[in-house]
Amino acid sequence: MAYENIIFEIEENVAIIKFNRPKALNAINPALLADVRDVLEKIEADPSVKVLILTGEGEKAFVAGADISHMVNLSPLQARLFSQEGHDLMFKLETLSIPVIACVNGFALGGGTEIAMACDFIYVSENAKFGQPEINLGIMPGFGGTQRLSRVVGKAMAKELCMSGGMISAREAKDIGLVNKVFPPENLWEETMKTANVLASKGKVSMRAVKQCIDRGFDVDMRTGCYMEADAFALCMASPDGKEGMSAFLEKRKPEFKGEVS
Ligand code: CAA
Repeated sequence: MAYENIIFEIEENVAIIKFNRPKALNAINPALLADVRDVLEKIEADPSVKVLILTGEGEKAFVAGADISHMVNLSPLQARLFSQEGHDLMFKLETLSIPVIACVNGFALGGGTEIAMACDFIYVSENAKFGQPEINLGIMPGFGGTQRLSRVVGKAMAKELCMSGGMISAREAKDIGLVNKVFPPENLWEETMKTANVLASKGKVSMRAVKQCIDRGFDVDMRTGCYMEADAFALCMASPDGKEGMSAFLEKRKPEFKGEVS
């Protein structure tokens, strides 16, 4: 199925969503949210897909935020719904059973920073720019920026970004722990795919367990997190991939992970 606001492709085991409204710097409107929602359901139902990459079409932007021309006329109740739809999508990305990499090739502002933060980690080009500029519009972040940013970079840095509305460079974003790696623009895609292929070569069951333990464990006390880890560890040990991976090591061969759950 062709989508109006995104390009969706699958290359071997790697799914790719490109935000595709380059004339509006890939700004997010409800139709784009709906397209992404639809694709995430397809991805979750396809056992062959092992990694998802999100990126922006065009040279300039990952996503320059929510579409201001859409937001300007929203009633308070419509604005609440728009924000909740955004939140739902961020939670869907965060809880997707496979790893999600944000490949940020330019502006990631407002909703763009918020989408990137809902991914498992962020690779960026040297020309990427992050920020929560909503305050400049007399509004505030609405897709989780005040919540995720403080959890990722700490309260003081989150406040500085959300209160000043300023942009930070790729290097600054790396320094504050918002992004994992910075590449020259011409290398960004290749490096992102390289990592995606590494992740795709692992077992789906243990990959999901790692993602869930780190994410869910972050919201609870250390001891509860460790209980969760012990249970997940036991399940991985009992899984066909766990048996295959450990046997392959002992037999000095490459493991063949099938992601079976029985
Ligand atoms: N919404 C709607 N249209 C947008 C947009 C946005 N968020 N960002 C850029 N565009 C449009 C511009 O209006 C322009 O359209 P026209 O060519 O039709 O005039 C086109 O994209 C190109 O943009 P610029 O000419 O402004 O490009 P620039 O290189 O001079 O500046 C920019 C780039 C600094 C990113 C600037 O476009 C900008 O400041 N954009 C707005 C960023 C922003 O405020 N984002 C937060 C939105 S609110 C939000 O996201 C709330 C939330 O949490 C849910």
